[in-house]
Amino acid sequence: MEKNFKRTLITTALPYANGPVHIGHLAGVYVPADIYARYLRLKGQEVVMVGGSDEHGVPITIKAREEGVTPQDIVDRYHAIIRDSMKELGITFDVYSRTTSDIHARTASEFFRRLYDNGCFEVQTSMQPYDAEAGEFLADRYVGGTCPHCGKQAYGDQCEACGTSLSATELIDPYSRLTSAPVSWRETTHWYLPLNKYEERLRHWILDEHPEWKPNVAGQCKSWLDMGLQPRAVSRDLKWGVPVPVEGAEGKVLYVWFDAPIGYISNTKEILPDSWEKWWKDPETRIINFIGKDNIVFHCIVFPAMLMAYGDGFQLPDNVPANEFLNLEGDKISTSRNWAIWLHEYLREFPGKQDVLRYVLTANAPETKDNDFTWADFQARNNNELVAILGNFVNRAAVLTPVP
Ligand code: MF3
Ligand code: ZN
Repeated sequence: MEKNFKRTLITTALPYANGPVHIGHLAGVYVPADIYARYLRLKGQEVVMVGGSDEHGVPITIKAREEGVTPQDIVDRYHAIIRDSMKELGITFDVYSRTTSDIHARTASEFFRRLYDNGCFEVQTSMQPYDAEAGEFLADRYVGGTCPHCGKQAYGDQCEACGTSLSATELIDPYSRLTSAPVSWRETTHWYLPLNKYEERLRHWILDEHPEWKPNVAGQCKSWLDMGLQPRAVSRDLKWGVPVPVEGAEGKVLYVWFDAPIGYISNTKEILPDSWEKWWKDPETRIINFIGKDNIVFHCIVFPAMLMAYGDGFQLPDNVPANEFLNLEGDKISTSRNWAIWLHEYLREFPGKQDVLRYVLTANAPETKDNDFTWADFQARNNNELVAILGNFVNRAAVLTPVP
């Protein structure tokens, strides 16, 4: 929709602080967002670009347990690496904060509390996997067992052997990955956001009001909407996270995908304690969320439904650009298989060559389809395009410029 906006709030998906960032993150989110922010600033627009680390969620607790350290140790380590390497690459965040900050805990709790007080949640009781030996509920990732589709070992959320998404209830002989004890099942109660109640508004907002969105984003949204939205749990039985701010919710935290997008708001508040509302609630602010394609449903369906439920003038994003994936030498980038080019390592190996990486990731951006990064292409683009063409052009222009 063509509208006249006064200023732009750019948000960038908050990377999980359970590892450093790699070229896939850069090509998908941070380099495009930074180019856009710099472009708008050059045009004289008022811009705020928000980033930060996503420091909750089960993968962080798994990593901490593997290393025998606390989740806080893990996020402290990776937050510093991510923040410093992004800065060195020249990503011009106005704020790069973290979801373990006090202001975030307060903002996320208050957000939940308002929805709770306004009766926006449904309460549902269900049977969840429980480890009686450890005395803890088990996140799906913590459950192992046999895949009902291919018979190989799988996790409670996914079978990596055959690629099927699963739930822990489907696994054969499920066991706890914490203690190896067989899973027992216990009843637990959680708060659910009834996405179904927002379905019509979401459909109208996305499909009627925003025909200009990228086809990959609009297509995923349409298929979610066409399947029909269901209530979604926004709390978890877990020790690591923002506590659910309700009496009788001991041992429960906000689901990471509930608290993380609120991080965009907390981080804005952190740098603009007096004027943050203008960036979120003024219809003359244009909000753009740069995200990866695996984040589409959370940014186009769940977070907007949260903002609708909250009300109080919060604006929805005007666009949610997501790129496709960048592969590396023909193979999917994978943190667990350590198949990636890590930004902090690149910066160490190629000191002063930030712009070469930014150039190659931009020239080869996975805008409409998955693309491949190869070192041969990196070298050729550096030598043929940057050095030979651009370098020569600048050199000749400088040499031929008459000196008065
Ligand atoms: N941490 C998520 C990821 O890396 C992205 C979170 S985006 C936010 O996929 F909105 F939730 F912050
Ligand atoms: Zn399988």
